[in-house]
Amino acid sequence: MSSLTKKEMEVLSSPTFQQIINQHLENPSRRNILKGSVGVAALGFLGLAGCGGGDGAVASSTGGSTQLNAVGFTSTPFSLADSVQVAEGYQFQVLYKLGDPIAAGVADYMNDGSDAANNPSEFQFRSGDHHDGMYFFGLGSNNAWDPEESTRGLLVINHEAITPEYLHVNGPTSVAGVRDANEALKEMYIHGVSVVEVRRGSNGQYSVVQNSLFNRRVHTLTDMEISGPLRGNPFMVTKYSPNGTRTRGTINNCASGYTPWGTYLACEENWAGYFGNSNPGTRSSNEQASMRRYGVRATVGNGREGWNTASEVGQVGEPFSRWNVGIVGATAADDYRNAANTYGWNVEIDPFRPNSIPKKRTAMGRFAHEGAWVGPVEAGKPVVFYMGCDSRYEYIYKFVSTANWDPADMMGGLQAGDKYLDDGKLYVARFDADFTGDWIDLASVADGTTITAVRGSGSLSTAAITYTVTDSNEQFWNTRLLADIAGGTPMDRPEWGGVNPRNGEVYMTLTNNTSRRVADPANPRVYFDNDTDADGIGDAGSQGNVNGHVIRWREDGSEPAAVGFSWDIYLFGAEDDDINNPNVNLSGLTEENVLSSPDGLWFSQKTGVLYIQTDDGAFTDTTNCMLVAAVPGEVGDGSEVDVDNTAGGAGTVRTKVGAVGTLRRLLVGPIESEITGLTESGDGKALFINIQHPGEDGSNAAPTSSWPYPLTGGGFGNPAAGVMPNAGNRPRSATIVLTRIDGGVIGQ
Ligand code: FEO
Ligand code: CA
Ligand code: CA
Repeated sequence: MSSLTKKEMEVLSSPTFQQIINQHLENPSRRNILKGSVGVAALGFLGLAGCGGGDGAVASSTGGSTQLNAVGFTSTPFSLADSVQVAEGYQFQVLYKLGDPIAAGVADYMNDGSDAANNPSEFQFRSGDHHDGMYFFGLGSNNAWDPEESTRGLLVINHEAITPEYLHVNGPTSVAGVRDANEALKEMYIHGVSVVEVRRGSNGQYSVVQNSLFNRRVHTLTDMEISGPLRGNPFMVTKYSPNGTRTRGTINNCASGYTPWGTYLACEENWAGYFGNSNPGTRSSNEQASMRRYGVRATVGNGREGWNTASEVGQVGEPFSRWNVGIVGATAADDYRNAANTYGWNVEIDPFRPNSIPKKRTAMGRFAHEGAWVGPVEAGKPVVFYMGCDSRYEYIYKFVSTANWDPADMMGGLQAGDKYLDDGKLYVARFDADFTGDWIDLASVADGTTITAVRGSGSLSTAAITYTVTDSNEQFWNTRLLADIAGGTPMDRPEWGGVNPRNGEVYMTLTNNTSRRVADPANPRVYFDNDTDADGIGDAGSQGNVNGHVIRWREDGSEPAAVGFSWDIYLFGAEDDDINNPNVNLSGLTEENVLSSPDGLWFSQKTGVLYIQTDDGAFTDTTNCMLVAAVPGEVGDGSEVDVDNTAGGAGTVRTKVGAVGTLRRLLVGPIESEITGLTESGDGKALFINIQHPGEDGSNAAPTSSWPYPLTGGGFGNPAAGVMPNAGNRPRSATIVLTRIDGGVIGQ
């Protein structure tokens, strides 16, 4: 076991951290409060990890488990209200909202667009927007990770994106196509990751410890190390790091992961769209192929949020031109032509060491990383992570470490990450018609192999680019292209994964794919959905795999590092309109559990309950997005079925459908929100859930949601009876905590 070194403790309590915060504090007396807390917090770091599982056989302990055979609550009805609806016997609190302060002395959030308007970096000390992937690290009395701990924890939360309309006084502004510099900077600080200490009070309610020294924001300007096989590679050279060992910031961190050594993985998903390219035609054929395959834009000025248009006059460190990957300097060390190469990675963050520098783990591949979910961990065996690339027709991947797990690394932080995440095998999944599958090693793709028609997504328009594999590092940098060659199965948008603590089987959501016209056994549905209610949402029917499904697999021999597996489909989404269509509602869903666009997944380590969250735009004419739960069985517990497809000429496809079990709706969210980010306290009595982008389609003048509403007597929550949307306040993404009113374990 390792603990913080003396040097690390000194860094934590160094004046630097205080100075940074103090620069942003106006009130000297508040500075003293912060100063007083430093010594107390640092002292606790002397302790060692107090994690369960003394022999370290299984890192994710299920000690004291309350394994359930079925969920016991009654299903929550559909809801189109601007509120969070929960099952009878449950309650929720709003814990951590966009703009909430996370350092002593930082003022409450005004929520009128004026916050940090003239001081963008103030957002280093506030919650970001669009809360997404999240993990609760129980914090023991020794300030080290304790997976069994519930009363105190570090909540690590991704802030995937923003709703700019609500972040500035009059929404985002640009003059003649040029974004306001302060607005652009503020938006960069609002993206990224939060680390916040939370505590449970005697009333069972959690609160954020505003002045905790663990509190931290990682954002789009945070210094990062490039780690693994591409560290120092010429493709990583930028003006920011002429030797290609560092980069600045992380973005579009979607789902996430945690490691057995107590760190967090923030996964970069839709990073490509933030970049523009002022001269794409000057690049090599391989570079053009890479930009096309990943969707880096072929022009400048139209990148997502338009940051590369803002003026750098008076700015330090070229915060805006780094979003242009065009060649404007003499060499790669003189511009940002390679900046996009430093994105698309899993970013490892040590929440227990607030001053540590995050590391981008290049051995885990580069794609639209949704998340990374660790497989069952056993001493003396490799550590395995399952990963999805969330775009239409993209792949499911597996990383297998070269190093075998040593329980002594349990609190090893980023050093342990160096050991397990910088060297390993990268596989892509192929799902076969006989319900088995193979993990194909991307290192098996031979140098010199070419692709002549590179598929792309609205970036470089020509498909007439030849891509040639030049060396073994291509599997990490151009993972999507190597997976094309290797013959992975293109899936219906791989989103979140989860590993069943009972049997090690792996689940992954395939949220939807309205482009699908040809079916295969693992992506077997191509249909017109039955939507004729003329309410403006999905009317006249979308086609393809409109409602998504959840696939699962069991590794051969139940060995996470195996190269073969067997699979079936646990669940097919369907809307109430299609309950009676056996070729759509293959899982036999009913009014109490129909769902569309499964996205977030979480297996309770305590109870074995599988939670599924939705991010949907098809079923939202009937209900807002939701959280459903069930206790699943195992791969093969259902039956084979022929799906008669109605759209795209896909014909009849044989697949295998699992037994769903008792599936019920636990929660429904507010208007235009996605339900995401599920994690739980060690005792299974609290679920932390993220409500992302309520009212995302509204404007600051006319919000379509005002959730969460200020409550009479303090706090935030649902509107008072009779209060309608557009009640005056701007909506905010937020973390909520779901508990049972009787204090029991969730799901019973
Ligand atoms: Fe960020 Fe794939 O959802
Ligand atoms: Ca409709
Ligand atoms: Ca619909």
